[in-house]
Amino acid sequence: MKELKNIIILVATEEHLKYVDQVNDAIDIASKERGTGIARRTYDYIGSKMLDGKAIIALENGDTFAGFCYVETWGDKSFVANSGLIVVKEFRSIGLATEIKRKAFALSRTKYPNAKIFGLTTGLAVMKINHELGYRPVTFSELTDDEDFWKGCQSCVNYDILQRTGKSKCLCTGMVYDPAWEKEKKPEEKKQNNGWAIKGTLLDIINKLKPNKNGSQLKGIFGFILFNNKKS
Ligand SMILES: CC(C)(COP(=O)(O)OP(=O)(O)OC[C@H]1O[C@@H](n2cnc3c(N)ncnc32)[C@H](O)[C@@H]1OP(=O)(O)O)[C@@H](O)C(=O)NCCC(=O)NCCS
Repeated sequence: MKELKNIIILVATEEHLKYVDQVNDAIDIASKERGTGIARRTYDYIGSKMLDGKAIIALENGDTFAGFCYVETWGDKSFVANSGLIVVKEFRSIGLATEIKRKAFALSRTKYPNAKIFGLTTGLAVMKINHELGYRPVTFSELTDDEDFWKGCQSCVNYDILQRTGKSKCLCTGMVYDPAWEKEKKPEEKKQNNGWAIKGTLLDIINKLKPNKNGSQLKGIFGFILFNNKKS
């Protein structure tokens, strides 16, 4: 049985370049299992994330590769995504992805304190982790309009849906954390979970949402609730 206490999770550096192929192989295997057709990142791309201090790596006993995630910026650094999250099969369900995402979130907040942190996912595990970090579900209108980000969806098997809807919706749920919300928090809320994560009920989230002109954020949250109800 794998245990979290034997795993170190750290910001990757040059000395971790030797794990790049294992990272890519693990992403390949997972994307085949999920049938989503996610494109393999190049060695240079993952390597550059490590060299730039924008990747998180998890190693059991300091040397066995267990998990990974990296930070990338979009829209002139106004948006940050924590991408490429992968946990090797034998290390799943012990809370490792949660810890990796916590580190990636903290790294993103440090490097880009004013950027919105966002992600797209169909996975319940990632939705749960994002929710605990303080992300809120939104419609795609609230995400980056950086064309290069959306190009990353081209290798997904569902890309035709995104095209048909003019990038307004697809099977993924969009989730965002906006640092501006920190300013709205009451002092007692800031103390919870080291001050950067909010754990609340869906009703709490709905109450905090400020719909834009066409109410699109509210549609996002109701989609999220329906999705979770279907799953449970
Ligand atoms: C998704 C993934 C990263 C989760 O890793 P993990 O280390 O097992 O996740 P954790 O143990 O931290 O679990 C986080 C939460 O998700 C839940 N969870 C984990 N796997 C789940 C699954 N397959 N289905 C539903 N919930 C799941 C856990 O119970 C936990 O919930 P809790 O906080 O209520 O207890 C891992 O399964 C993986 O690498 N999958 C393949 C790649 C992938 O899908 N990446 C995400 C791309 S968006």
